[in-house]
Amino acid sequence: MLSSVLDAMYARRSIRKFAEGAVTDAQVELLLKAAMAAPSAGNRQPWHFIVVRDEETRRKIVESHPHARMALEAPVVIIPCGQPDLSFEDRPAFWIQDVSAATENLLMAAVALGLGAVWCGIYPNEERVVEARAILGIPEGVIPLCYVPVGVPGETKEPRTQYDEERVHRGRW
Ligand SMILES: Cc1cc2nc3c(=O)[nH]c(=O)nc-3n(C[C@H](O)[C@H](O)[C@H](O)COP(=O)(O)O)c2cc1C
Repeated sequence: MLSSVLDAMYARRSIRKFAEGAVTDAQVELLLKAAMAAPSAGNRQPWHFIVVRDEETRRKIVESHPHARMALEAPVVIIPCGQPDLSFEDRPAFWIQDVSAATENLLMAAVALGLGAVWCGIYPNEERVVEARAILGIPEGVIPLCYVPVGVPGETKEPRTQYDEERVHRGRW
C-alpha cells in the first residue's frame, strides 16, 4: 500500500502564513507537472496556468480578493485557469472538474516538496473573474479558477482526515 500518499493527503492543509525563502523555478515546474498529471474528461486537459512572481501584480491580487492576503507574503502565486472550448462541445462545464483536479494535484505536490499553499477561489464569483482577467491579461474564453499562493510554510497544521460516517451512503442513499 502506498501509505505515503495517504499521509500526504492528510498532511495537506491550507497554509496562510509563509516564512522567508524562495520557491525555485524548478520547484514551480514540478508543481505544474503534477497539476498536468491530473485526470480530465476525455483527457481534453482544458487548462492553463499563470505563474506570478512580480510583487506589484501580487499586490493587485490581494487588493481585488477579500480572502487572498497570502498572495503578498508568498513569493509565487499560481493561477489555474480553464478554457471551456477545449473540453467537450456539448459539456464544456467539465472544465471546472478538470481544473479542480489539477489544482488538488498541485496542492499535493506542494506537500511533497515541503512547500505550503492555499486555494483561494475566484470562479464562480463573477466580480473576481473580471478583476483577475484585468490584472493578469487573461483572454475572454479563459476562466481563472483560483489563486494558489505558494511559499515556504510559516505555520504548521496537524495532519487530519475529516471523515464523517454520516456522509457515507452504503448500497443506496
Ligand atoms: C473552492 C475553494 C475556495 C477556497 N477559497 C479560499 C479563499 O478564498 N481564501 C482562503 O484562505 N482559503 C480558501 N479555501 C481554503 C479552505 O478554506 C480550506 O480548504 C478549508 O477551510 C479546509 O482547510 P484545509 O485546507 O486546511 O484542509 C478555499 C478552498 C476551496 C476548495
